[in-house]
Amino acid sequence: MCTHLGCVPLGDGAGDYGGWYCPCHGSHYDSAGRIRRGPAPENLPVPIAQFVDETTIQLG
Ligand code: FES
Repeated sequence: MCTHLGCVPLGDGAGDYGGWYCPCHGSHYDSAGRIRRGPAPENLPVPIAQFVDETTIQLG
């Protein structure tokens, strides 16, 4: 969820920094979710993650 006003950013390398792009008001995030340009005041939240085993990551 975009940290500006809550729209859903586009992912899969979207935006000018290869991460996420929010089309509502033009916020660009990099692939780590850091805000790089636009009105969003904060980085995207990063979910808690942990390795369950050698090949599985559990989010949340
Ligand atoms: S809600 Fe994402 S830029 Fe405004």
